[in-house]
Amino acid sequence: MNFEYTPEQLMIRDTTRDFAQRAVAPIAARIDETGEFPSETVKQMGELGLLGLMTAEEYGGAGADTVAYVLAMEEMAKICASHAVVMSVQNSLVNAGIEKFGTEEQKREFLTPLASGRAIGAYSLTEPQSGSDAGNMKTTAVRDGDEYVINGRKSWVTSGPVADFILLFCATDPSKGSRGTSCFLIDTTRPGFSRGKTEPKLGIRASATCELMFDNYRAPAWTLLGKEGDGFKIALTILDGGRIGIAAQALGIAEAAYEASVAYAKERRAFGQAIAEFQAVQFMLADMATRIEAARLLILNAAIKKDRHEKFTKEASMAKVYASETAMWVTTKAIQVHGGIGYSKELPLERYFRDAKITEIYEGTSEIQRLVIARNLLA
Ligand code: CAA
Repeated sequence: MNFEYTPEQLMIRDTTRDFAQRAVAPIAARIDETGEFPSETVKQMGELGLLGLMTAEEYGGAGADTVAYVLAMEEMAKICASHAVVMSVQNSLVNAGIEKFGTEEQKREFLTPLASGRAIGAYSLTEPQSGSDAGNMKTTAVRDGDEYVINGRKSWVTSGPVADFILLFCATDPSKGSRGTSCFLIDTTRPGFSRGKTEPKLGIRASATCELMFDNYRAPAWTLLGKEGDGFKIALTILDGGRIGIAAQALGIAEAAYEASVAYAKERRAFGQAIAEFQAVQFMLADMATRIEAARLLILNAAIKKDRHEKFTKEASMAKVYASETAMWVTTKAIQVHGGIGYSKELPLERYFRDAKITEIYEGTSEIQRLVIARNLLA
């Protein structure tokens, strides 16, 4: 496998790094504290092309590949995991889904404003009674002439409070279970759509998450993405790509915690020497670095397979489960290396620790990733 990055991949990585350090780093601690959605820097991310990285240029995107996207995600997550998840959802769940399954009209109406950063997108699969068992949804869409009438309630929608457009999964034929699922492109300015309260969260606090309510929302028939009944496969196909993005988010969080630990271990002194001189600390740093490197290689493996248009479901789940558990492990050890100050809000270590946890949950829990890997091994 060739791991030499192209000039374009490096340019996207460096542009993202520069923007994240310059514009996002100064506000990251404050927005974590307040839970305020960073509208201004998200707008700037859009202007910079970070909200349409993998979308074709003809639809307003940058036309980059998945490897470039994961490098950019990692850089953003190193500085702020909240900005990173906004970027991830828009690129790999919303834009990628419309680009892969949409009609020309849907791409012009929805994808172009999203990829050019003029609109914010969300992906809505989960419901109060269905998270991991995603096919068990109660929200329905009933055909009525040239429209579908949608009723129901969705939950845990990342970017839901600020989304202009939403990829919504609901049942068009509940008697068929997941095979009766369809996907619609929702315009949040239409009547019948409303948002519930924004969720107070442990981590990624500046990303906005809420419930969505549909009360006789009338979706024009042309906003059906793919065919009726194809919704569940569309949802899972999109999530395969999304999981690579979340893995890269986890990697960025882990790296930030690791780099802080190396710097602190060299500077902090105890018993007459830098704590980096103690083997107990060295072993923690060595294990952090090894797991981070392994996570990076799994992510690149999945991204390269995706870019080669090979099947990558298993590899995406391997990357996500390993990178997210690495993020949790590394951030825990990073606090240990720092001792008391690592537990304090004066340093970002505790933020990294809180942010890492969600990567083991959203876009499929670690248990679901293992189930997907096992099913693919045994198929
Ligand atoms: N790509 C395309 N199709 C797929 C697929 C894939 N990766 N995996 C399965 N399918 C197809 C199957 O072939 C099957 O097709 P048929 O109906 O023709 O037989 C169909 O989909 C149903 O598959 P399963 O029988 O395997 O479905 P299941 O009910 O057992 O569920 C699951 C499978 C893997 C558990 C799935 O429900 C799942 O991934 N759950 C987790 C949901 C999830 O990740 N939610 C995240 C919400 S979004 C989010 O978190 C965004 C955010 O906020 C950042």
